[in-house]
Amino acid sequence: MSVRDLESITEIVKEHTRWRGSCINLIASENVVSRSVKEMLISDLGNRYAIGFLHNRFYSGTKYIDELEGYTTELAKLAFRADHVNYVPISGTMANLVMFNAMTAPGDVVTALSVIDGGHASFKECSKIHGVSLVPLPYSMDQMNIDVGEAEKLIARVKPKLVLLGASEILFPHPVKEIRGIADEVGAIVTYDAAHVLGLIAGGTFQDPLREGAEVMTGSTHKTFFGPQGGIILCNGKHARAIDNAAWQLVNNHHIHRVAALSVALTEFIAFGHDYAKNVVKNAQRLAEELHNLGFDVLGAKYGFTKSHQVILKAPNNNGDAAAKRLEDANVITTKTPLPTDKTEEECSGIRLGTQEVTRIGMGENEMVEIARLIKRVLLDREDPLDVRADVKGIIANFREVKYAFNGGPAYEYLGLSSLSSNT
Ligand SMILES: Cc1ncc(COP(=O)(O)O)c(C=O)c1O
Repeated sequence: MSVRDLESITEIVKEHTRWRGSCINLIASENVVSRSVKEMLISDLGNRYAIGFLHNRFYSGTKYIDELEGYTTELAKLAFRADHVNYVPISGTMANLVMFNAMTAPGDVVTALSVIDGGHASFKECSKIHGVSLVPLPYSMDQMNIDVGEAEKLIARVKPKLVLLGASEILFPHPVKEIRGIADEVGAIVTYDAAHVLGLIAGGTFQDPLREGAEVMTGSTHKTFFGPQGGIILCNGKHARAIDNAAWQLVNNHHIHRVAALSVALTEFIAFGHDYAKNVVKNAQRLAEELHNLGFDVLGAKYGFTKSHQVILKAPNNNGDAAAKRLEDANVITTKTPLPTDKTEEECSGIRLGTQEVTRIGMGENEMVEIARLIKRVLLDREDPLDVRADVKGIIANFREVKYAFNGGPAYEYLGLSSLSSNT
């Protein structure tokens, strides 16, 4: 091993950064973070522990961490309009695991959407790990949403301990109020997985699960919410202690540099999030409409395609995998996805797009029209993706800065330590 190895590793990361900076990223679960957030991620906090609770830690050396976390807690409560926040889980999956641990006991029944109908793999895995039976919530392809009538029959029959709403493929708000009323009949808890739509909820453009009847909301802090990768749980006071106890037991080491970065992202979101969220949804609607006009089968046409950041298409020949690969060859980054009409989770006959990252770098409706045309050239006109790539690079070259931030900085540059401000 030598310094050459170090250089090789650095070069891979630099190359990745250059390449992704020459792509249009439409992955619905990613985003870019501001320079101020990046600075927190490389701080000394990344090497420290703060096991335990605020002002009651197991290790010494945490006086500034307590100050930081007190601040972060207040910012998160404000941004998400929640009585209680727990940002100990280091991912959305772990937030779900904590929630399952806190809210259910082995042997209980939980009902949530299946992966084919938009649910997330963690619903199944958390159930398995925690020994609860997972019963799929009924889904209506016609309404592109949970089928409330069928859900009522199911909930009356299986009497779940917990009804988990929210999804990975989520175009329209879920019927939280209606399900709350139904769940009350059997004494079930209602929770909501906002991994994808957390930023839209905080920005006031989607739905407001905690006020519509969900008692607990889990989420990721890096999808439509533009913070560092991480998990979060928001709840009313009733469940605070159960959530905090489960989080501390399961996570133990909660990565405090991430908390500092989240704190910075919260300040940005409180200042700019409403504007951003409104534009994310506007862009998604424009992209969907344009793709539909160009001949794509875009889901949700009957209801205006989408009310979230997501746009979901049927892929040509029902082959989402091939379509995503062709698009990647043209430097357009997307995700294959199963659709409710697929027979297995692996079939993936769709493509899922998200507009949160392109919005964060300042793109608007004109760019959505251009992106739709690029996708058509690759998938419907069968143009050589390498020819389309040059035009993709031409567009993204004009969007280099992170917007909706106090100090956005470059979106896609490798920031060595020497390029960050030092203030020692
Ligand atoms: C609905 C839902 N829940 C949980 C997760 C997991 O989040 P994370 O990737 O932060 O673990 C995802 C990921 O996309 C998701 O879509």
